[in-house]
Amino acid sequence: MTIEIIEKVFGELNALKCKTEKEVEEARVRFLGKKGEITALFEEFRSVDGDQKRAFGRPLNELKQAALAKIEELRSSAQASDAAEGSGDDLSLPGEQYELGSRHPVSIVRQQIVDIFRKFGYDVAEGPEIEDDYHVFEALNFPPNHPARDMQDTFFVSAGHLNPLLLRTHTSSVQVRTMEKYPLPIRVICPGRVFRNEAISARAHCIFHQVEGLYIDENVTFADLKQAILLFAREMFGADAQIRMRPSFFPFTEPSAEVDVSCNICHGKGCNICKGTGWLEILGCGMVDPNVLEASGIDSKKYSGFAFGMGIERIAMLKWQVNDLRHYFENDLRFLKEFEGATEV
Ligand code: PHE
Repeated sequence: MTIEIIEKVFGELNALKCKTEKEVEEARVRFLGKKGEITALFEEFRSVDGDQKRAFGRPLNELKQAALAKIEELRSSAQASDAAEGSGDDLSLPGEQYELGSRHPVSIVRQQIVDIFRKFGYDVAEGPEIEDDYHVFEALNFPPNHPARDMQDTFFVSAGHLNPLLLRTHTSSVQVRTMEKYPLPIRVICPGRVFRNEAISARAHCIFHQVEGLYIDENVTFADLKQAILLFAREMFGADAQIRMRPSFFPFTEPSAEVDVSCNICHGKGCNICKGTGWLEILGCGMVDPNVLEASGIDSKKYSGFAFGMGIERIAMLKWQVNDLRHYFENDLRFLKEFEGATEV
């Protein structure tokens, strides 16, 4: 036995390269197997004279440790490359197709309404969905015993004190928030989600969406309101759309009206969508009640304004002749796909 032989085996070990696990196993047998080179050196070591044992023992042990470490290292890198090669995937195949989603029809209509009013110079304002009694009812001139303030109609988050928290039942609360913080004149629309304690049916849901409009300036009249709604109806339902106003009541507007648009399906002849009347109800509106202006610190002698509110699902149903509101909440892909690309007004 000589030191040169041990160094030679060291050198071979260092130069070792293996691509596959099979080659690694062959290398292990070559160096460390029963008849391996290093095993043979250990055999030889047994017959080395006692006084020489010290000189060879240490380098021999180092050689064995280095061989074990090297084989381990080669094995794990061969395993990794075998896994990459042998995964069975055909890497030349085209990739898996991920379907692209499309915008929800309610979002499409909300955006259309926002775009129309932006063209008229309205800003967009938003407010919280969890509101207090003050912004949903009190500041909007609802009397203390109004039925909307009842558990039957409104979802309360906390009750039992003067200004309970609740889920807003209409976006009119954003009117109040806007009047509190915006400088005059105000011209905003407020899209958002609203909540009412209603049984779910083809015509009603406990969650739906509204867009509120508010315009306050000096000398705003009912004629301005009528013009804004007419222009909106023509943008949304077609250039030949007509509107009519019917007297109505809301605590926060005086006078108040409900607005119908001429039926865009039968063009006034009468069909089952408009129930033979030729008209479809689209929104509620009116002149902002002076009490509401004053509650938010606006001088009702100097300023006047109008407000309107419409249900987005309702507009979407009329526009696309969908006869069941629940389709908008079930998210059946067959339904949603019909609106792919429907972004034009
Ligand atoms: N907030 C009313 C509703 O939810 C709609 C409305 C808004 C009416 C603004 C008049 C003015 O029914």
